[in-house]
Amino acid sequence: MFQYQCLNPISKVGLDGFTNDYIKTEEIEKADAILVRSASMHEMKLPENIQAIARAGAGVNNIPLKDCAEQGIVVFNTPGANANGVKEMVIAGMLLASRDIVGGVEWVKQEKDNENVGKLAEKQKKQFAGCEIKGKKLGVIGLGAIGAMVANTAIYLGMEVYGYDPYISVDTAWKLSREIKHIANVEDIFKECDYITLHVPLLDSTKGMISKDSIAMMKDGVVLLNFSRDLLVDETALVEALEAGKVKKYVTDFANPTVAGAKNTLVTPHLGASTAESEDNCACMAVKELRAYLENGNIHNS
Ligand code: MLT
Repeated sequence: MFQYQCLNPISKVGLDGFTNDYIKTEEIEKADAILVRSASMHEMKLPENIQAIARAGAGVNNIPLKDCAEQGIVVFNTPGANANGVKEMVIAGMLLASRDIVGGVEWVKQEKDNENVGKLAEKQKKQFAGCEIKGKKLGVIGLGAIGAMVANTAIYLGMEVYGYDPYISVDTAWKLSREIKHIANVEDIFKECDYITLHVPLLDSTKGMISKDSIAMMKDGVVLLNFSRDLLVDETALVEALEAGKVKKYVTDFANPTVAGAKNTLVTPHLGASTAESEDNCACMAVKELRAYLENGNIHNS
């Protein structure tokens, strides 16, 4: 019989609040499995009885994988379950970087008590003028569930899309869309694209992949989007490039003081998968995986 208990509702403790203070250890000790979203489990002592951990999301960098392997704990994730939610956020980020909707909305709010705001708007709107994404080149680094969806949507919006993924063949990329230009090396994306979006996991090999050197290869005024993981981007190099105008805008879903305080950034608090639909999909897939494993020993997304 499957029983669930919510020990740590994320809404009460905040995104990084998964600390031992909040975990009722004695209750977790009784559980056979843990289902977790973004909270870090690295500081937590893994209970001895746990057989499996399901991550309601794609990235598993919040789970101590080495310790799990040593303890024989199977780790599941939910690939693709939140892909549409994140994709919509990336497309929104690209549009927000191109059109100063945020600046325009703030300006109207500031002038809300001015009865001539309508007339004034016609004079002021020049400062909020932007550009269109149609016809621009988008580089998608990582063509997994999210990257592929972003690429296909961008094609429908009239962008020229370049895709890079060292783990898939040209044939597989073409199955995603005939119109994605499959690029064999990431440098070509850096050199060619007006917009570059990251859809790769955080690994030793991807950490800091947006570095001083990679930025130097990019076009002046490139827009960077990072809805994958904060540490993919070397912060010091990025801030320098934003200051110099080399990077026109950095749109990210990872809030940290350096980036939030820097010029020309649009930062959201890890909202990519925060939609009712994505949360339901992830939770259902995670529970399905746990059930299949605990009840029948079946393993799919581990
Ligand atoms: C993911 O890895 O899929 C996201 O971080 C999900 C989330 O926001 O929980």
